[in-house]
Amino acid sequence: MYIVVGLINKNLKQNLKTQKIMFSKETYKARREQLRKDVGHGLIIIQGNHEASCNYPDNTYWFRQDSTFLYFFGLKREDLVGVLDCDSGKDYLFANDYDIDDIIWTGPLPSVKELAASVGVENSGDLGALQTLCTKTIGEARKIHYLPPYRADNTRQMSVLLGLKYDAVCRYASMELIKACVKQRSIKSQEEISEIEKAIATAYNMHVGAMKMAMPGRYEYELAGFMEGEAWKGNGPVSFPVIMTIHGETLHNHGHNNKLIEGRMLVMDAGCETAMNYCSDITRSVPVGGHFNDRQRAIYEIVLAANMEAIRVTRPGITYQEVHTAASRILAEGYKGLGILKGSVDDIVANGAHSLLMPHGLGHMMGLDVHDMENYGQINVGYDDETRPSDQFGLGSLRCGRRLQPGFVITDEPGCYFIPALIDKWHAEGTNKDFINFDELEKWKDFGGIRIEDDVLVTDNGCRVLGKPIPKTVAEIEATMNA
Ligand code: GLY
Ligand code: MN
Ligand code: MN
Repeated sequence: MYIVVGLINKNLKQNLKTQKIMFSKETYKARREQLRKDVGHGLIIIQGNHEASCNYPDNTYWFRQDSTFLYFFGLKREDLVGVLDCDSGKDYLFANDYDIDDIIWTGPLPSVKELAASVGVENSGDLGALQTLCTKTIGEARKIHYLPPYRADNTRQMSVLLGLKYDAVCRYASMELIKACVKQRSIKSQEEISEIEKAIATAYNMHVGAMKMAMPGRYEYELAGFMEGEAWKGNGPVSFPVIMTIHGETLHNHGHNNKLIEGRMLVMDAGCETAMNYCSDITRSVPVGGHFNDRQRAIYEIVLAANMEAIRVTRPGITYQEVHTAASRILAEGYKGLGILKGSVDDIVANGAHSLLMPHGLGHMMGLDVHDMENYGQINVGYDDETRPSDQFGLGSLRCGRRLQPGFVITDEPGCYFIPALIDKWHAEGTNKDFINFDELEKWKDFGGIRIEDDVLVTDNGCRVLGKPIPKTVAEIEATMNA
């Protein structure tokens, strides 16, 4: 479907081709029908996003539609609200139509009724009609389901629609709706997987191009800028601010001011969105200049082995906590070999001593959000009644720990980070001192960090790393950088 521009072109009697930016209306109708069935009763309100001002009202951030709204309604116009009535089976789309004062600036745009029809929604109205429907539903004592808003303007809108205090809005969000959305969105369809693979194809260009640029004298911002450009060449923004740093020990380092110097590892964690907003999230770590030195190779091979171990064991039925632990054992074994850790691998992992060098989890769900559905509350997405988050340092940061099912798309992103402040703290406190050679560790405090990240689909009997393989072994990276 070639929605927004397609409709304009019809109005203008032109015949321009545009890129496909939505699935067919049947996809959205089927998703909504399933949601109504799973929630079972009451009215479901799904808010789209609004424009957000950056530094003055009319200078807005790049508009990003809400992912739940995209999933069930597919439309990217701002200020839309979708409603599903589980009792009557009716779906609605609400927004105020544009008037001529808007159209002067935006060009002709479809009406709310036309937008609704394009995704198989039969009922539409303005925001006054939405208020009337909400007030009527409250009067009937029927339940109104909504998701916890993550933006102030949507919290305010919900507070007005339902007559709730602003601070109470999140508290009354519907757990039934959250669970139904998680159930559906966790399992990616074939058409969603194709979109994700498109996002990874663009990430391939981002990463391979940046690898070749990672030479001494360049600045991080040149490579980060190149990646942003490649993302837009794939017709989407980056899926989160590019991490491009010779200080990879800072996990989400968003500064890009450093000059690349020989001897540093460069951590590049970046992905993009497709025109339909499906994401990629890839990390590659490369030696500035294109040749791993002995220390870099030693750490890199350990992290790579952990990444590969996760791929080896990921399959339906295993929990991602177990996959995290399997990868952790490889890390622990590797650090023992270097003399950084000591004791048995079982004891190291049971006590979380290896987490000093990887204080984050192995991965997270990915889809329409790079951390998929995180706005529903991480525990509702990554855990369930059976699998609860650990309270151990490191493992406790695992965003998804639950039992895997075919159709899950999850990241596999082990890393190794020598964080001087954390090393000093554990040393001073004696944390896990039976398993850590702090004297040996001193020699690594200037190393920086390494992370390797792939996007993985859980299949019927194992898993598949999605997309065209991006250089990952020492030999592949050196060959790419020196080609
Ligand atoms: N890009 C952030 C992450 O890997 O989770
Ligand atoms: Mn990442
Ligand atoms: Mn990630």
